[in-house]
Amino acid sequence: MAILVTGGAGYIGSHTVVELQEAGYDVIVCDNLSNSSQKSLDRVEQITGKKVKFYLADILDRAAMEDIFKSNNIELVIHFAGLKAVGESVAKPWEYYNNNISGTLVLVDVMRQYGCKNIIFSSSATVYGNPAFIPITEECPKGTCTNPYGWTKSMLEQILTDIQKADNEWNVVLLRYFNPIGAHKSGMIGENPNGIPNNLMPYITQVAIGKRPELGVFGNDYDTHDGTGVRDYIHVVDLAKGHVCAINKIRENCGCKVYNLGTGNGYSVLDIVKNFEEATGVKIPYVIKDRRPGDIATCYSSADLACEELGWKAENGILEMCADSWRWQKNNPNGYDD
Ligand code: NAD
Ligand code: WQD
Repeated sequence: MAILVTGGAGYIGSHTVVELQEAGYDVIVCDNLSNSSQKSLDRVEQITGKKVKFYLADILDRAAMEDIFKSNNIELVIHFAGLKAVGESVAKPWEYYNNNISGTLVLVDVMRQYGCKNIIFSSSATVYGNPAFIPITEECPKGTCTNPYGWTKSMLEQILTDIQKADNEWNVVLLRYFNPIGAHKSGMIGENPNGIPNNLMPYITQVAIGKRPELGVFGNDYDTHDGTGVRDYIHVVDLAKGHVCAINKIRENCGCKVYNLGTGNGYSVLDIVKNFEEATGVKIPYVIKDRRPGDIATCYSSADLACEELGWKAENGILEMCADSWRWQKNNPNGYDD
């Protein structure tokens, strides 16, 4: 029996393929490479010493998806494939709803056609909107999303929940990620953004390597300890391990479950700058800018439920996250384009 990883060539997917292979699973990846390079999977093979069976396929392409299920005995799908740039989703809502929602509808329809009714879905803390309380537990009500990307996650959670409710042969685990950063300790795989990074850590590492002159800090007048935005940064390898734990939950016939994957700690933008400098010895010049539209002041998780029910807990601290992000950037100044 194999595990199909959609979007497995991407940032979180490639790290998860490593952890799955190291845990002994037989892994198949399907990715249309719209935001990734197949080189990530060559690197995964170097890290684990195992081959990755790869399909260059779009989840919207029903025939291609049927071919994957026809040719393999797939027990479970870990579904990362999706578009994820918040700003782009505001400019291209149709593309985001079509890719993320229609793509998932095709995927789950082909899954049930082939009797595979186990799915782990990449959701996001963004579904909480401006959270009703902090730390955010899974009981916190879902909120109003500020962009189409966020709505695709919120809507897909509802769609998968309803599908499971109508047919209890389905097992659905919705994982709400907080802010993944860091990279594999080998420095061989990591985050590889196209163009100017939107997210904080890739921006910092590009400043550190000299590609950008300084970091813009989006607002220092929030109601936080130093006025800058607070987030729950989680090491991508810890996040990847959370998926391996979720497989065991699925195998217990868990029905529909929701878990936060975070550390439970909040760090401000300036905390991250300070920790990055301490971990790497590289100075990060910054300037204070206006708030970024749609940003919230504070977002961090309660990670207790995943600990109790999945036996999972993040292990890496913020200094390791910074050091590992930097090792990847330093070893690969142009990502997989080197
Ligand atoms: P990523 O862009 O690196 O990986 C997504 C992968 O999916 C890419 O390799 C891309 O080529 C592929 N893909 C996109 N559309 C596809 C399609 N139609 N068919 C086949 N492949 C397709 O992003 P990531 O950071 O690894 O994120 C993985 C998942 O986790 C996404 O669903 C994302 O929304 C979600 N997520 C990410 C974060 C984050 O901050 N990185 C936070 C919360 C949730
Ligand atoms: C973190 C903090 C910024 C860049 C986004 C998505 C979310 C999720 C993860 C997928 C904030 C500040 C950032 C910069 C800055 N993705 N910042 N200067 O906004 O928490 O979450 O990625 O689900 O949906 O919205 O992450 O890394 O963009 O920002 O000051 O150049 O860093 O204002 O306080 P965010 P981020």
